[in-house]
Amino acid sequence: MDLGLRGRAAFVAASSKGMGRATAECFAAEGADVGMCARGADELEQAAAAVRAHGVRVVARPADLSDGAQIEPMLTEVAGELGRLDALVVNAGGPPPGFFRDLDDAGWQRAHDLTLMSAVRLVRAALPWLERSDAPSVLFISSFSIRQPIGNLLLSNAVRMSVLGLAKSLATELAPVRVNTLIPGMVRTGRAIALAQSRLREGQTVDEVMAEHARQVIPLARYGEPEEFARVAAFVSSPAAAYVTGAAIPVDGGIIQAP
Ligand SMILES: NC(=O)c1ccc[n+]([C@@H]2O[C@H](COP(=O)([O-])OP(=O)(O)OC[C@H]3O[C@@H](n4cnc5c(N)ncnc54)[C@H](OP(=O)(O)O)[C@@H]3O)[C@@H](O)[C@H]2O)c1
Repeated sequence: MDLGLRGRAAFVAASSKGMGRATAECFAAEGADVGMCARGADELEQAAAAVRAHGVRVVARPADLSDGAQIEPMLTEVAGELGRLDALVVNAGGPPPGFFRDLDDAGWQRAHDLTLMSAVRLVRAALPWLERSDAPSVLFISSFSIRQPIGNLLLSNAVRMSVLGLAKSLATELAPVRVNTLIPGMVRTGRAIALAQSRLREGQTVDEVMAEHARQVIPLARYGEPEEFARVAAFVSSPAAAYVTGAAIPVDGGIIQAP
C-alpha cells in the first residue's frame, strides 16, 4: 500500500530516541521530509543523520518542550526550512514516576507543562502550516495509562487524560485537520528499560524483569518494538488513513484489558 507520504513533510516532536525517533525514520522511509527536536543536541544530530540516510530532507533543532517560550520559534523555523507541514506528531518525555504522597505542586506543574502544555503549544504553532496542506494530520502519542491507571505513574495517569480530551475536542474543532491519538502499551525504549530497572530484584537482569513482566500482563507476551509502533504512527498520519479522525488507537500487544 502506498501511504501517500512521498513529497510531504512531517514534524515529530521528541524524536532523538525511542518511539519518536522510530516514527521519524518511518516517515523518511516513506519519502517524507522530517522535522525533529529533542533537548540533547548530540543525540538529536545522530538521529537526524540516520533519518537523512533515507534520502529525505531533515531539519532538527534542540528544544525543551516543557519550556513554553521555545516551542513556537523552533517549530516555525523548522517548518519554514521544510517549506510545508502535513503531519504533526505530538510527543514528549513522560512525566516521572511517583505516588500521590510524594508529589508537590511544583511536580504537578512540571507534568502539566511537559505533557499538556507542550501539546497545546505544538498544535498552535503547527496549525498555520497544517491548514495549507491538503491532507493535514495531528497525532498525539499517549500511554495505556489513559485506559487503565499504572501503579507508580500517577502524573501520567492524570495529566494524559487532559491531552486525550484536547485531542477529541480538536478533531471536531479543527476538522478537516485529522486529529488522532496512539496508545502505546509497553514498548522497548530507553524509558521502558529505565522503568524496568526501577523494579529490579536481587540477581535479576533488566531483560529478565521485562520478560517476566511481559509474560504476566501482555497477551502477546513481549514488549513492542519502537518500529512496530512507528509503522502505525506513519499510517494514521498519512493520506492512506484519510477517514480516521477523533480515534484513540492502542498499539499495545493487548495489554489494555478494557474492551
Ligand atoms: N516506552 C513505553 O513503553 C511507553 C509506554 C507508554 C507511554 N510512553 C510514552 O511515550 C512517550 C515516548 O516514550 P519513549 O519510550 O519513546 O521515550 P524515550 O525513548 O525515553 O525517548 C524520549 C524522547 O523524548 C525526548 N524528550 C524528553 N523530554 C523532552 C523535553 N522536555 N523536550 C524535548 N524532548 C524531550 C528525548 O530526548 P532528550 O532527553 O534529549 O530531550 C527523547 O528523544 C513518553 O511520553 C512516554 O511516557 C512510553
